[in-house]
Amino acid sequence: MATIPSKPSSPFLLALLFILINTVATITQTEAQLSLNLYAKTCPNALNTIRTSIRSSLAVDTRMAAGLIRLHFHDCFVHGCDASILLDQTPTIRTEKTAGGNNMSITGFEAIDAAKARVEKICPGVVSCADIVAVAARDASAYVGGPTWNVKLGRRDSTSAYPDVAVTDLPSHNDDVETLIKRFKGKGLNVREMVALSGAHTLGDAQCSSFRDRIYSDGANIDGAYAGVLRRRCPLVGGDNVTAPFDPVTPDHFDNNYFRDLMRRRGLLASDQVLYSGGGVTDGIVREYGKLAGRFRDDFAAAMVKMGEIQPLTGSAGQIRRICGAVN
Ligand SMILES: *[C@@H]1O[C@H](CO)[C@@H](O)[C@H](O)[C@H]1NC(C)=O
Ligand SMILES: *[C@@H]1O[C@H](CO)[C@@H](O)[C@H](O)[C@H]1NC(C)=O
Repeated sequence: MATIPSKPSSPFLLALLFILINTVATITQTEAQLSLNLYAKTCPNALNTIRTSIRSSLAVDTRMAAGLIRLHFHDCFVHGCDASILLDQTPTIRTEKTAGGNNMSITGFEAIDAAKARVEKICPGVVSCADIVAVAARDASAYVGGPTWNVKLGRRDSTSAYPDVAVTDLPSHNDDVETLIKRFKGKGLNVREMVALSGAHTLGDAQCSSFRDRIYSDGANIDGAYAGVLRRRCPLVGGDNVTAPFDPVTPDHFDNNYFRDLMRRRGLLASDQVLYSGGGVTDGIVREYGKLAGRFRDDFAAAMVKMGEIQPLTGSAGQIRRICGAVN
């Protein structure tokens, strides 16, 4: 074993030590920019206020829970969790709302706007829209029986939107498993986290236009009876906006039925079923989550935390929008 000569007084070693300490300090500083208790002094009732508002929106429309989780996901995957997805079209902003997979399918804006309005009333200009989106996704999960988790705070809001990134970076209903893995890896999320996050499809619906190819292709990887039911609902021509639930039995309740359905070849989208194809790289994880509901819940919560911390704007970057749909 080689021994390191100990000469701590050497100017070279001291310089090296100095650089090392500075590097560690910088890394720690970057990681510390989101924090659990950011609003403890500046807006102590922020989290309670958001939760109350989100709960009253969900009491009117429980289906919105899926929309709020997806909104956070589609925000974070496009230029980081910066509320860029909330910006409306203006002469200077090209909105993400109508781009790619968001068009005609992204929901939850009213619930976010309502929560933001309540928070602005108690502490104007303090709580970002990006943080509200992250907290709302957590509160939505808890509301429908899903896991809860601690949300670190301090994301700031973008002053621009990125529709081109929405087109290139968001997963598509036609993605194969390699593409899904690559997309999530590009955002710092591993295969297991990708499968866990796909389990959000325990909630919500998809539009006919996104699963028509799958149910009329007569492919081997779809249960015949299931395809028949869907064909009666979703015609070969027209009916693009007809919807079907991802989880037909408990569409408003967070559970692991999604994974059990995949094992019975009853995934709604092609991009759902590719997670369990018989010998695929993610089959084992699907089987595990289908069997162990608690494991899925824990992994989902951990993956949501990680997803919620993709490239946030922090420090003096961006701004705290007064209204989520427009820059100040
Ligand atoms: C969004 O969908 C609507 C209705 O299908 C369509 O008219 C519009 O062109 C789409 N917008 C974009 C940007 O693709
Ligand atoms: C579905 O689309 C049809 C025709 O485009 C329209 O008349 C109808 O209002 C839409 N339904 C819903 C629920 O959006």
